[in-house]
Order: sequence, then C-alpha cells, then structure tokens
Amino acid sequence: MIPNFVDCQVELMPVVLRLHSICRSFAGSGETVAILRDVNLELASGQAVAIRGPSGCGKSTLLLIAGTLDVPSDGLVEILGRNPWSLSARKLARFRNEHIGFVFQEHRLLPQLNVLENVLLPTLAGFAPDRAACEQRAHALLERVGLQDRLEHRPAALSGGERQRVAVCRALIMRPSLLLADEPTGSLDPHTAEGIGSLLLEVAAENDAGLLCVTHNDRLAVRFPEQRLLEDGRLQPVG
Ligand SMILES: Nc1ncnc2c1ncn2[C@@H]1O[C@H](COP(=O)(O)OP(=O)(O)OP(=O)(O)O)[C@@H](O)[C@H]1O
Ligand SMILES: [Mg+2]
Repeated sequence: MIPNFVDCQVELMPVVLRLHSICRSFAGSGETVAILRDVNLELASGQAVAIRGPSGCGKSTLLLIAGTLDVPSDGLVEILGRNPWSLSARKLARFRNEHIGFVFQEHRLLPQLNVLENVLLPTLAGFAPDRAACEQRAHALLERVGLQDRLEHRPAALSGGERQRVAVCRALIMRPSLLLADEPTGSLDPHTAEGIGSLLLEVAAENDAGLLCVTHNDRLAVRFPEQRLLEDGRLQPVG
C-alpha cells in the first residue's frame, strides 16, 4: 500500500523530545516513593500533547525532567538528538536557554525586573538575534496577551493571571524547539485561558516546536490533537 502524503510528512518530522523508561523516586520519611515508574514519550517537531492526571501524580516532576531541570532516577532523556546530561553545566544552560521554553506552574518571574525585562531575560544570555528584533517580538507577544499597558510593572504589581501571561511570553521569546507548559491557564478566567491556549498552540505550530502542556482545564485539553494521562507513574493514551 502506498502511504499518503500526509503520513509521509508526519514520519519525517524530527523527534524533539524522547523520554525512555523514565523513573523518578523521592526519599520520604524512611521510605522511597516512586512517582514516575516507566514514562515513555516521543514528541516530534510540530506535535502538541496535553498531559492530564490527578494532583500529585507527578506531572510537574515529568515536565521538569523533560526540561532538564530535574534528573531522572533512571531512564534516558534525549532532546533534539542529544543526551542533555552529557553536556557540561555551562553548555547545558546554553542548550536550555536556546532550545527549551518553560512555563512554570508558579511562573517564577524575577521580582526586581519589570514585565518587559522579564520577557527579554532569556535573550540577554547572548545567543539571541539582534536586540531590536528581540524587543519587537517581546512587545508583540505582550500585546497578544493583552499586557501592552503593563510593560513597566513589576510582578508584585500584577494579578496572578497577568504574571502567568508574562511567564508564557518569556517562554516563547526565544522561539524554542521544545515548549513545556505546566498549568499555563491555572489562574485565568475562561476567556483569557482560551487566548493563552491559542497563543501556545499557534506559536508552537509557527515554529514547528514540540509542545507538552500539563493542564486540568478540559476546554484547553480538548484543543490538543493528542492527550495523555499520567497514572500510576506511567503515561497512557487518552481517547
Ligand atoms: N523535590 C521533591 N522532594 C520530595 N518529593 C517531591 C519532590 N518533588 C515532588 N515531590 C512529590 O512528588 C509527587 C508529585 O509531585 P508533582 O509536583 O510532580 O505533582 P503534580 O502532578 O504536578 O501535582 P499538581 O497537579 O498538584 O501540580 C508529590 O507527592 C510531591 O510531594
Ligand atoms: Mg504540578
């Protein structure tokens, strides 16, 4: 049978993230608790997957491992064909800065920087294209999330939802190949949440990024072409 053109295209997309038999345990009081037991995932360029699962099942832990911000107890992580843990700390920091965009569950903005500076922060490491282009992109992103009038506000002067929107812009500023978002709409009203969901999906598609998004929001999850459920330390397909 001759495969159709669309099938050929999907197969040709490079793998951005490969998680192979990932385990993660934490030492508790006297016992070790296994949170991730055998997580396997391949995320291709342009692929968008929503991750769901009950509170405490390990979704944030999984995203941190995928973003090289935590080390698995066992298993292999491959990002853009490289084992990130084979890189020196300096090269890993650069690799992360260039290729991975992360929206943290608790946003993690720098309190001493204003909105525009927080968004531009990843571009300051010196690997980004010219300054004017970065600033133009930061303004465009902030306008897209409705924060064009808040550029000089510090995070403390923003609402929870506004901070979350700034964090999304910061994750997108470098046009990362791998976009990881942990509950990006957690503090947002339904209308704003829909806008942020659209922004993540659109920017990921524009840049052929792989997008992995943890969400409890049903309306956001169903907009993803694929969903996975994290259950008993393993990722299961949904639907
Ligand atoms: N650094 C750590 N040390 C010890 N235990 C940890 C650590 N990080 C996470 N855990 C534990 O691992 C479990 C999973 O945590 P995680 O934050 O990944 O859950 P989650 O699925 O993201 O939950 P939520 O939906 O509430 O955000 C929790 O029981 C948590 O206490
Ligand atoms: Mg979490």
